[in-house]
Amino acid sequence: MPGEPPETSMQGRRPHGLLRFLTCGSVDDGKSTLIGRLLYETRQIPDDQMSALVADSRHCGTTGAAPDLALLVDGLQAEREQGITIDVAYRFFTTPHRRIIIADTPGHEQYTRNMATGASTADLAVILVDARKGIVTQTRRHAFIVAVMGIRHVVLAVNKMDLVSWSEARFGDITSAFEAFAADIGISGVTAIPLSALTGDNVTRKSAAMPWFAGPTLVDYLDTMEIPRSIAAAEFRFPVQWVSRPHSDFRGYAGTVRGGAIRVGDAVTVFPSGRRSTVDRIVTYDGDVQEAVAGDAVTLTLADEIDVVRGDVIADAGKSPTVADQLAAQVIWMHQEAMLPGRQYLIRIGTAEAVATISALRYRIDIGTMAHEAAKTLELNEIGLCNLSLDRPMVFDAYDRNRDTGGFILIDRATNATVGAGMIRFALRRATNIAWQPMTIDRAARASLKGQQSCVIWFTGLSGAGKSTIADRVEQRLHAMGRHTYVLDGDNVRHGLNRDLGFTAADRVENIRRVAEVARLFADAGLIVLVSFISPFRSERQMARELLGESEFFEVFVDAPLDVCEGRDPKGLYRKARAGKLPNFTGIDSPYEPPENPDLVIPTAAVDPDEAAERVVALLAQAGRLA
Ligand code: ADX
Repeated sequence: MPGEPPETSMQGRRPHGLLRFLTCGSVDDGKSTLIGRLLYETRQIPDDQMSALVADSRHCGTTGAAPDLALLVDGLQAEREQGITIDVAYRFFTTPHRRIIIADTPGHEQYTRNMATGASTADLAVILVDARKGIVTQTRRHAFIVAVMGIRHVVLAVNKMDLVSWSEARFGDITSAFEAFAADIGISGVTAIPLSALTGDNVTRKSAAMPWFAGPTLVDYLDTMEIPRSIAAAEFRFPVQWVSRPHSDFRGYAGTVRGGAIRVGDAVTVFPSGRRSTVDRIVTYDGDVQEAVAGDAVTLTLADEIDVVRGDVIADAGKSPTVADQLAAQVIWMHQEAMLPGRQYLIRIGTAEAVATISALRYRIDIGTMAHEAAKTLELNEIGLCNLSLDRPMVFDAYDRNRDTGGFILIDRATNATVGAGMIRFALRRATNIAWQPMTIDRAARASLKGQQSCVIWFTGLSGAGKSTIADRVEQRLHAMGRHTYVLDGDNVRHGLNRDLGFTAADRVENIRRVAEVARLFADAGLIVLVSFISPFRSERQMARELLGESEFFEVFVDAPLDVCEGRDPKGLYRKARAGKLPNFTGIDSPYEPPENPDLVIPTAAVDPDEAAERVVALLAQAGRLA
């Protein structure tokens, strides 16, 4: 991840006395001032920078004669505005007993993703609230993300106490409101500290203005709190990161222990295969050890020669993780482009990856009230409970048992961007007992009876580009050649099977998912299938291609410029759309993503339908599908 401190890559045990924490809160809550204060009071700021700060504070600070500590931190914001991307800024300081790393996430609209980056290695989160405002939606959202990212310890820094007359009652109200909410979302350890970043009260110096507060200052707390040692999970979990074979008589499995402990001689099971063995050696950079515990990066060797690959999980023989291809999880969406049920994403759990589809969005969570709402998609920063369907069984735990093997990220297949994060609640067994029934008569047998080879010709393009016209002509030609065909046409299928779907992005994804499945069944029946759908998204066309297989799928881009389609306007829909009477119209206010590598492009402004049909038939012939 960008900007990670070097310590992250350090192998082995985390040095004693190193604490990482994540700050959550907006600039308005005084986050920059608090971080500036921590750096200043712990003397991390070189003299020259301090003199510059004092000078700057005079003309652009907000604190009168005193140095404006926020300026120390907000410089970063300025860098961001110049287009330098900093998702997470790491800052360092030392207290009497430890070194401390602050992961600060300067983003605003993208903050969930930034927070997730910062939180992935954090021991603790400091959630900042403004004492005048108390717990706001943003606070709840931050707390929720912190919980999802597996941080169990939170400091609730109630800032700006100077502006509420150092009121004990106000602090008490905020603290109890937060604790009630935190318990709901699984944050057990909350330490609330009333402070003023501006004056420094209860940051490093015990506040004389708040004698009623018996707890520690923020720095005392950070200095002495017991660092939660990775996760509390007792069960041994070891996701294999890579197989180490430096020479032929050594085969080890390298990774980081993500739960429990392991000793030489312990019985283990490798998942998903279920093969058993015992641990022969535990190898580290400093030689062999007898035991490894959660957080340790080691290489294990096993007593038996069994097949273990990257992504497998070596686990306690007695306490198995779950192996399933369906699961329910709480998902936080982190991308500008909404989450679309039915679309394929990559899911990464530990060191393993698979293709995942959100098979259902059960509900969205209103973070303000925690109420469950019906929803079709998750927008940026929204949270919901989803069912996920994977293309193969994966190994995991419920998140409340193990945050590492129970947490995942979702990745966009085209751009590789992290688009979501989630915590697994439970496996869904619903589909696990379904096996593919092999039939004696297969696709090839059915097709050969018809004297043909089945395939799918997928026409994509704007409404009015000519897809259906060309598909119709192609079918006539094939029919005349004695071929068995079927045309799946968008308008027609929407009269029946897909009559429940409209034209939102989510519905179009589902529309294409269904028709791709139907096309596969028809191809299985031995037919030459012509699909004529706008199919505006690359992702779903790619999915269809993968479903059918490279050699049986032909993508034909029926390419006509928007103004040509609009000029034709065979159904009068463009006119309606331009008049604002038809929302989400492709090309007008709903996107069309042209194919990048179609098998054939037909520019229909220049090519008439018969010539177009000719080219499609020629394409099939060339590919040997008409032999
Ligand atoms: S797709 O985008 O989901 O693939 P599909 O091919 O099924 O679309 O349906 C497109 C047809 O629906 C168009 O040819 C047009 O006749 C009709 N239609 C009605 N509303 C819209 C709309 N908002 N956008 C595009 N097509 C629409």
